Amino acid sequence: MKFFIDTANIEEIKKGIEMGLVDGVTTNPTLLSKEKKDPQLVIKEILETVTGPVSLEVIAKDAKGMCEEARKLAVLGNNAVIKIPMTEEGIKAVRTLSLEGIKTNVTLIFQPIQALIAAKAGATYVSPFIGRLDDIATKGMGIIDEICNIFFNYAFETEVIVASIRNPIHVLDAALIGADIATIPFNVLKQLMNHPLTDIGLEKFLKDWESIQK
Ligand code: E4P
Repeated sequence: MKFFIDTANIEEIKKGIEMGLVDGVTTNPTLLSKEKKDPQLVIKEILETVTGPVSLEVIAKDAKGMCEEARKLAVLGNNAVIKIPMTEEGIKAVRTLSLEGIKTNVTLIFQPIQALIAAKAGATYVSPFIGRLDDIATKGMGIIDEICNIFFNYAFETEVIVASIRNPIHVLDAALIGADIATIPFNVLKQLMNHPLTDIGLEKFLKDWESIQK
């Protein structure tokens, strides 16, 4: 299972890389807005820092505009992946970009059929948002299971990025289902390594060792 980090913050990305937990990065306009810096500079720095795929989202709403933006983003780095919203125009753009060999990540997916349509259009990745479904009292992880089954049934090469992750249980469930990738915020990435019994156990080991030192 690959771990992407869901942030546009360069310090978080660097720390995640040190932890060995960054196979790629996903950004979106909201995450870039939090940085309060020129987004073009932030994007350039992320592309240079990370070797794996970096998802960068288009702003245009029409297919032509999306494709124009995508082509400009794609030349910024050979690891750039273009995030396209799951709309009718978005799917047209994915089809065009796929024929041009530009990698795409179809975002804002909330039901399995949307993922199927994105895969049929040639998307490299799909991003179902499970946390936002949980937020409205719908079991987000259910759609991951269904999307993985559909992609298996038809041998799609499109990879599933479990997105809108809020806690370690989301990562665990995604791994149990066999999703290709989880894109994880930095705070959750850190939580993945922790368990209170680990801390208690280590403290006792060190205390006991200290007690036999002369
Ligand atoms: C994924 O690519 C998105 O950037 C992200 O996971 C959205 O998460 P949120 O619902 O916490 O905003």
